[in-house]
Amino acid sequence: MTARSTTRVIEPDTASIAEAVRVLASGGLVAFPTETVYGLGADATDGTAVARLYEAKGRPAFNPLIAHVPDVKSAQTLVTFDHAAAALAAAFWPGPLTLVLPKAAACPVAELATAGLDTLAVRMPNHPVAHAILEAFGKPIVAPSANRSGHVSPTTAAHVLADLAGCIDLIVDGGSTPVGVESTIVACLGKPMLLRPGGLPRDAIERVLKNTLHAAPPAAADNEAVPLSPGMLATHYAPRTRLRLNAEHAEPGEALLAFGPVSPADAARAKIVLNLSPLGNPVEAAANLFAHLRALDSAGASTIAVMPVPGGGLGEAVNDRLARAAAGR
Ligand code: TXA
Ligand code: MG
Repeated sequence: MTARSTTRVIEPDTASIAEAVRVLASGGLVAFPTETVYGLGADATDGTAVARLYEAKGRPAFNPLIAHVPDVKSAQTLVTFDHAAAALAAAFWPGPLTLVLPKAAACPVAELATAGLDTLAVRMPNHPVAHAILEAFGKPIVAPSANRSGHVSPTTAAHVLADLAGCIDLIVDGGSTPVGVESTIVACLGKPMLLRPGGLPRDAIERVLKNTLHAAPPAAADNEAVPLSPGMLATHYAPRTRLRLNAEHAEPGEALLAFGPVSPADAARAKIVLNLSPLGNPVEAAANLFAHLRALDSAGASTIAVMPVPGGGLGEAVNDRLARAAAGR
């Protein structure tokens, strides 16, 4: 990792949007909030800036990036929409849905950003700060989650700073990100396929498609080839502390990641308790997931015990991230 002097943190206003655009235009790296998680942005058309981005994250170069756009018209200059993709974009953009589509012939996105694939992931975020930067910049911005590769995604500017201070130029601090898990990724390259469950629930997508989404091929834990969604390696979302999933009770000294009511006995046994949603709401659980994982990871417990979270709605994405965080520990 190359130190890039100091990382500045600024509040979002007109001047800071202009500053973010200036830094991006000079090939720099700018973290900014989206409705899902903080993204680490670089000019998608500038191969050197994209290379810097991979370096700052410590990201394997085979893992391609999502190009972010301010509107559908901009996306149409990058990729080709089939009928399903057009219907999904019309229904859910701006919003937490990424579409993987065939690259357009004149697509200006740097080859490195797509890791040699002939497809490109595109997304139109639903966040005023992200939108203002994208519109003012006027070119696509590639933005992976603004964490060190393999670490949990950041939902606050402080999380970004904890992972990337000194490695990036600027953070626009827009507070906590409301959705809290990354976008749902759907490939429309034939039959629509769910590559990553995320902030948009599967059933909403299936209602628009009037069809069930095909499942992605199983994620590879250790795969040197380029999997269909290469970032979906089994251990991608990992805290350092071991996770114990579907824990009905906390063992003495464990950190407890709770969902719903916690018994007084569990509260007493656990070293620390953080609740994803005391009332058992999966939307609230998604919003709290990464911040709570980070906090429990730094509590010095031997294990993080995770209470079961039901799989409906955003529960699918929450369980997916928990399973990945637990894999290989
Ligand atoms: O919510 C989000 O999507 C956030 C915010 C910042 O927009 N971004 C994000 O990016 O989660 P990242 O890079 O952390 O995850 C993108 C995922 C990776 O798993 C990557 O492998 C996959 O998208 N991906 C990117 N391009 C792809 C492609 N052409 N085909 C298949 N998968 C692709
Ligand atoms: Mg990520």
